[in-house]
Amino acid sequence: MTLPYALDTITVAQIAKFESKIMKILITGGAGFIGSNFVHYWAEQHPEDSIIVFDALTYAANRASLASLQNKITFVEGDITDREAVDAVMAGVDCVVHFAAESHNDRAIADPFIFTKTNVIGTHTLLESARQHKVSRFHHISTDEVFGDIPLNEKYKFSESTRYNPRSPYSASKAGSDHVVNAYFETYKLPVTISNCTNNFGPYQHPEKLIPRSIIRLLHGQNIPIYGEGNQVRDWLYVKDHCRAIELILQKGKIGDTYCVGGMTEEVTNLQIAQKLIKALGLSENKIEFVTDRAGHDVKYAIDWSKINKELGWQPEHDFDTWLTTTVEWYKNNEAWWKETANEAESFYKAQGEQVLTK
Ligand code: NAD
Ligand code: DAU
Repeated sequence: MTLPYALDTITVAQIAKFESKIMKILITGGAGFIGSNFVHYWAEQHPEDSIIVFDALTYAANRASLASLQNKITFVEGDITDREAVDAVMAGVDCVVHFAAESHNDRAIADPFIFTKTNVIGTHTLLESARQHKVSRFHHISTDEVFGDIPLNEKYKFSESTRYNPRSPYSASKAGSDHVVNAYFETYKLPVTISNCTNNFGPYQHPEKLIPRSIIRLLHGQNIPIYGEGNQVRDWLYVKDHCRAIELILQKGKIGDTYCVGGMTEEVTNLQIAQKLIKALGLSENKIEFVTDRAGHDVKYAIDWSKINKELGWQPEHDFDTWLTTTVEWYKNNEAWWKETANEAESFYKAQGEQVLTK
């Protein structure tokens, strides 16, 4: 049996493909947060390409995020676990950029099985279809959460060689998807790349996540609900920096490789983020309340992004404070985009029994 691709010809073929002018790119999950930012980014940077967005329009999607691109992209509503639908959209595709996933930890605690279905089975379905259709590149978007968490008093960071140690149903499902992607490279020589990035922030993020939730609640005169003591640390990455990292990986990344993408050089706790948001909106510090903690709450994520820096010349361009303020402005000016989903997000937290413990 001959394999669809010979390993050492992939790189050459890939470079030729990605340097050539026109490409048909399939973006899964393009109606979600990072996916929609990437669709905007790609349409702007590569206007000659044909962009297909494939998205099941779950609760996390927002068609309004793509409204201004209506005439520039093809939108296909469909589920990545549906092989027939996936095959139909995969025909003639050169490159897949796979964002579609269940992405929220709190929802994974409440209802974990859909995470395994979408994130593992859905990714596997896409990979098999991509293999059958001989796509030239499959880029999988993953998370730093697959590495577990870092004790607060430790200074080390996650890198491409960190052992997988997921601690939540969401991160376990993402870890599972990464393993299947790697298996398709090792076994079938499917030309894959993976990026494991940390927490993104910016426009079009669902109001269930910390930064948009906090901004929207402050705009409504409510408090920011902080889990536990608020001493957890994330490594915040402005979404546009993430989009540029993916572009570079597609253009210059090594087939079969993983790239870690992070943002911060200094640690900022959730509590400090809440304080920055309160300040950005010109309010006072008593707008914070401590609520029921997340089960199995990961305390710290931090990414060593030296590989992508050295090999592909990427580094974050957007500093946290400036882009946090820009993000606050975006939410202030786009109430129509978030109004409905913010209500749904708050209903979700209420149904989970989130309780205010202290102020
Ligand atoms: P999101 O929840 O905002 O959007 C997910 C999108 O996927 C939605 O449009 C949804 O409709 C779609 N989707 C869900 N299930 C689907 C299915 N079965 N078939 C087709 N489409 C489906 O997610 P996000 O925050 O934009 O994250 C995008 C990707 O990046 C995910 O793979 C996530 O694991 C990863 N990631 C996110 C972050 C972050 O900070 N948000 C960080 C690291 C990695
Ligand atoms: O690290 C990458 C991950 O970042 C991605 O893989 C996930 O898809 C993405 O959702 C994000 O996960 P987190 O769980 O870190 O993000 P979230 O915005 O839900 O929470 C950030 C931190 O803030 C976390 O420590 C929990 C805390 N938090 C969150 C909410 C929603 C609060 O204290 N209060 C809140 O209301």
